[in-house]
Amino acid sequence: MSILTRRHLLRRAALSATTATPVSAVLGTTAAATTATGLAGCQPGDPADHTATASNPATRRSFPPDFGWGAATSAYQIEGAAKEDGRGESIWDTFSRAPGRTRNGDTGDVAADHYQRYAEDLDLMRDLGLRSYRFSISWPRIQPDGTGAANQRGLDFYRRLVDGLHERGIAPMATLFHWDLPQSLQDTGGWESRDVAKRFADYAGIVFDALGDRVPVWLTINEPKTVVQNGYIFGHHAPGRQDPDAAYLVAHHLQLAHGLAVRALRATGGKSRIGPAFNLHPCYPADDSAAAAETARLYDGYENRLYLDSALTGSYPSDVLADLGPGSRMVRGIRDGDLEIISAPIDLLAVQYYTPIYVTADGGTVRRWPTSEADWQQIYPDGMYDILTRVTRDYGPIPLTVTENGLPTPDELSADGTVEDDGRVTFLRDHLTAAHRAIAEGVPLESFHVWSLLDNFEWAEGYEQRWGLIYVDYPTQRRVFKRSAHWYRQVIADNAV
Ligand code: FCB
Repeated sequence: MSILTRRHLLRRAALSATTATPVSAVLGTTAAATTATGLAGCQPGDPADHTATASNPATRRSFPPDFGWGAATSAYQIEGAAKEDGRGESIWDTFSRAPGRTRNGDTGDVAADHYQRYAEDLDLMRDLGLRSYRFSISWPRIQPDGTGAANQRGLDFYRRLVDGLHERGIAPMATLFHWDLPQSLQDTGGWESRDVAKRFADYAGIVFDALGDRVPVWLTINEPKTVVQNGYIFGHHAPGRQDPDAAYLVAHHLQLAHGLAVRALRATGGKSRIGPAFNLHPCYPADDSAAAAETARLYDGYENRLYLDSALTGSYPSDVLADLGPGSRMVRGIRDGDLEIISAPIDLLAVQYYTPIYVTADGGTVRRWPTSEADWQQIYPDGMYDILTRVTRDYGPIPLTVTENGLPTPDELSADGTVEDDGRVTFLRDHLTAAHRAIAEGVPLESFHVWSLLDNFEWAEGYEQRWGLIYVDYPTQRRVFKRSAHWYRQVIADNAV
């Protein structure tokens, strides 16, 4: 999710209200907006009934029998152990250690110490009743410099983790890249370099060979859009660049890397499934004007279709390409055959949903719904329904998984050892209700992962925001089930909200 992107778009929107910034500038592009083509823009859905609870059998919504109830994490955010067992440096080590980059100067050096405590965490997942666990593999643990021979100790950690999941009856879902690029590859150009896409495919091949069919579902790149926007336009994520022209070349190379990894998996002949993980934001016009509708369509192109169209239909959206302009580094960087690689057939699509976007005619954005501690977020459960149904309508019945959904709440461990995060319970119940509605209308949604299993390093926000079902008392690393964890365990047991 474009955490800081959202915040910055909102801030820029506030600015644009007075300075009339065009959409291309808000989105970091260089050319003027053009007439949008392609898919229909999103429209707000009907308000859902937000009052029902699973405790009331009359309103209980049952999920399909084999529904994959899950929770998600990522390597840099939870593992810590930054120097253990031969791990190399990642761009997030560099970025978070640089002065002023993260809140309180926080880093992922220790994080939730999951690398040491993974067995305890596996037991917590079992106690929660999880059926699916989405985690990511740290590239610099596998190839400390981003190339060459595998670091066996790094592979062994993930092997132990995957085995521990199977022993507890939990299906592993592994993301290959959740933003922690080896620093050595950044030093040679990072994702601006086409070569990094090939390095990524090599790394993926190593991981596939080592873990193979033990991981039934692989996800390639987590939220390429966030790397593009936060890493290369706004500069609030590693590598901290503010270069829109570079940003969209990075988008192309991330998509290329995705396609090359899909090919690498197919080359193993294994049975595992694979797909990308996109954070999708329904984009609604902020008012009834034709101009707002047109701008919202272009916004939708940058937020959603750039990634969906290339991976699923083998072409970039023409409105976005036109807006970028023929001289842009991205457009010049697309080579014959690239889109064929990018659109290599996938087995499932991972959707991450956090917030809608309301777009004004001049390319600003407005807030329509309550926010959370993450001020880029608007709490709008019907956006979950809208984005899931839209993907199915526009791209066909490809199997879907929700791999992230959640919110930060101001959690405190009380003297009696409880954490009352009622806001998270309400949020998840309402979003699951919206997902259920989409399933009832034929959307092939097979699993849902709460972000996050446990409190963790929230990138530039450091440890201040708590997103977990499980509270982490960082000084002691003690884990405590929040109220939402108890609630989610019951949802899983009931297979219903
Ligand atoms: C998503 C990221 C994840 C976490 C959540 C809150 O954008 O994929 O790592 O930061 O947002």
